Amino acid sequence: MKTIMISLMLCTAASTVLADSHALAAKNDGELALPVDYARWPVYLKNVQRPDLKQIRDIYLNPQGLKSSRPFPYGTMMVMELHSVKTGADGQPVLDANGKLQKQGLSKIFVMGKGPGWGQAVAPELRTGEWAYAAFDGSGKSLGKDASSCRSCHVPMKDTDFVARVAEYESGRATK
Ligand code: HEC
Repeated sequence: MKTIMISLMLCTAASTVLADSHALAAKNDGELALPVDYARWPVYLKNVQRPDLKQIRDIYLNPQGLKSSRPFPYGTMMVMELHSVKTGADGQPVLDANGKLQKQGLSKIFVMGKGPGWGQAVAPELRTGEWAYAAFDGSGKSLGKDASSCRSCHVPMKDTDFVARVAEYESGRATK
């Protein structure tokens, strides 16, 4: 009985280690899966208005990412939904009674995740710490592995761990 208990314990310990190392195995661009449950994650920022792009963006952060910002911890995942907006006959956005853009449909989903050694398979000037990127269409289909355009835009955000709108997120947290 004792032997069975010990081997059971060992087995559980080994599979926990395996699961953890799998979750944090080095990932490069396009290798992050779309997390199935992200819509239940804490909100990073919601209803970000981008009239310039005719988009509304909703950003979620996994519970691990809540632990700190600048830098965000290993294991952080962020998911951003890009929604198209309602437009009129002139092609311009039609605003609601509060002057806000109105969602039309989910067009893309952008993901970024951070782990030890992640995102290093790119030219040094395109590295953003240890973040890796992935993009999906509205149905969750991968849009490929090339994230150089993502990177070139996030590289200058070095002071906020390559994440956008961190000050807004932090001030929102402070008032909760
Ligand atoms: C033109 C510059 C630009 C490009 C290109 C870009 N991003 Fe971003 N990204 C931003 C900005 C700015 C935000 C904050 C939301 C906003 O203001 O629209 C953001 C936000 C994000 C977020 C939410 C976390 C955060 O930083 O606030 C993720 C995830 C993300 N981008 C991933 C990607 C991926 C993946 C790609 C490429 C497929 C990409 N981005 C391309 C500028 C860019």
